[in-house]
Amino acid sequence: METQKVIEERRSIRKFKNQKISKEIVENIIKYGTLAPSAKNRQNWYFSVLTNDIKDKVADLMIEYVNNTDETEERKKMGSPSSVKYSAEVIKQAPVLIIIFKEKNDDYIISDTLSIGACIENICLRATDLGLGSLWIRDIAYVSDSVAELLEHTDLELNCAISIGIADENPKQRPRKELVDIIEWH
Ligand SMILES: Cc1cc2nc3c(=O)[nH]c(=O)nc-3n(C[C@H](O)[C@H](O)[C@H](O)COP(=O)(O)O)c2cc1C
Repeated sequence: METQKVIEERRSIRKFKNQKISKEIVENIIKYGTLAPSAKNRQNWYFSVLTNDIKDKVADLMIEYVNNTDETEERKKMGSPSSVKYSAEVIKQAPVLIIIFKEKNDDYIISDTLSIGACIENICLRATDLGLGSLWIRDIAYVSDSVAELLEHTDLELNCAISIGIADENPKQRPRKELVDIIEWH
């Protein structure tokens, strides 16, 4: 696909078909993620690819978290967890969940986080290019410690996750702000 078309056609997909995707495809998608720029070329990103039971276990941790959390209190702390359950359902539906970890390093927090963002966008675009759907998921952060323990990566910091699979919906482009409202020229 042409670059312009891929960028225009990418959507956050929240309904997936019950069809697996191959290890080769997932590796190819991640490979494109790693072609993203990274601050000082640090490439501070590590990928845990989850399928089947362990993937569903992550979703269950998120659902358990919501069920045991007073939303009013939580909202005061770090925003509403109301979407967490919904994101967990998406994780269950999609055949693949890629979790991105980074090495802990206080000197490069912003640079490394920005770099991971570029990497994830490349992942989502490559998935689109291959005719697959993707969802960038930050809601997993509410259970990052439990997920890091589950995957025995307590030495690393969980950044976010991406669900990948064959889309079972075809949403319209979500609204975007008008350029006139977000650009100023000097
Ligand atoms: C950093 C980041 C975190 C996100 N986290 C979630 C999430 O946890 N759950 C979810 O359903 N969507 C999540 N999204 C998807 C956004 O809701 C979505 O990109 C936005 O509504 C625009 O829709 P579009 O991606 O289809 O253009 C996230 C997107 C970004 C960039």
